[in-house]
Amino acid sequence: MPAGEGAKNMETVLTVAGRLLELGADRNTPLIALGGGVVGDLAGFVASIYMRSVPFLNIPTTLLAQVDSCLGGKTAVDLPAGKNLLGTFYQPKAVFADLKFLETLPAGDFRNGLGEIVKYALLDAEFFSELEASADGLRRGDQAVLGNVVERSIWIKKGIVEMDEHDQGIRRILNLGHTVGHAIEAESGFAIAHGEAVGMGIAAAIRLSERLHGFPAADRRRTEALMDRADLPVKIPAAMRAEALVGRLSADKKKEGRSVRFVMLRRIGLPFVNGGIAEDVLIETIEEMKR
Ligand SMILES: NC(=O)c1ccc[n+]([C@@H]2O[C@H](COP(=O)([O-])OP(=O)(O)OC[C@H]3O[C@@H](n4cnc5c(N)ncnc54)[C@H](O)[C@@H]3O)[C@@H](O)[C@H]2O)c1
Repeated sequence: MPAGEGAKNMETVLTVAGRLLELGADRNTPLIALGGGVVGDLAGFVASIYMRSVPFLNIPTTLLAQVDSCLGGKTAVDLPAGKNLLGTFYQPKAVFADLKFLETLPAGDFRNGLGEIVKYALLDAEFFSELEASADGLRRGDQAVLGNVVERSIWIKKGIVEMDEHDQGIRRILNLGHTVGHAIEAESGFAIAHGEAVGMGIAAAIRLSERLHGFPAADRRRTEALMDRADLPVKIPAAMRAEALVGRLSADKKKEGRSVRFVMLRRIGLPFVNGGIAEDVLIETIEEMKR
């Protein structure tokens, strides 16, 4: 299938399913995804519906896919109205993450993975300390460091998904940084890459946690220092209008029919889901983040 989010749609699903039929694939034929998160999400979706499901295996080839999207069973394709609007829960039979693939990954795609890794570190204090000790090696792509980081991230995700496979409760903490991150990505007209937007979203979540829930200032400084070493931004571009960002968050709220849920932290390693944040607090925090 063609590279990129643009191909993660029903048209590609139909093409892949048609090709599987031509090749004589039956209910026992395993489908293997070899690629980034886009290929994994789409192939998982096809595997879950082709002949009422065939075995699915995932070989993630991007950092983001290896540390995050390859595991958890969320499959999806996009609709013109938005991302991931069609999908199923369908677990892979196995996942094989080989670091060798990452050698050819462009820098921007590597960074997309780093955003998710910092997210996992904030969900697990021990992993956070490990990452502080190895951040420079990670940025250089040191194999031993990468191996540990991929394994630790995916293991943290596995633990959370096993508690809440169908995303009814605790699994929502995996959205840390993504609510504001998605608004920033969209408001920039997708000029800001996903990984950077998630970085800014995480920085916003930390600031809001400090302001509203006693997240220690020392933990914020540690987080910002770690993000800086991972080359992730902690500031929001001055030209981005806080009101416009908050407008996007309220549009999400209307879509969901309830308040937007933010993932907050009481300290590093202690996340929880907040029911809603007043607009003026959001605007002030975003303005603060421009300085
Ligand atoms: N299912 C989940 O739980 C989950 C979680 C997070 C993200 N996602 C989804 O993942 C997608 C993003 O995934 P992604 O960041 O991997 O993007 P991607 O799949 O678009 O891959 C990024 C780019 O890297 C190229 N590429 C892949 N492997 C490469 C390699 N080894 N060397 C060189 N180039 C390579 C791809 O062709 C593509 O151009 C989004 O659609 C998102 O919705 C899903």
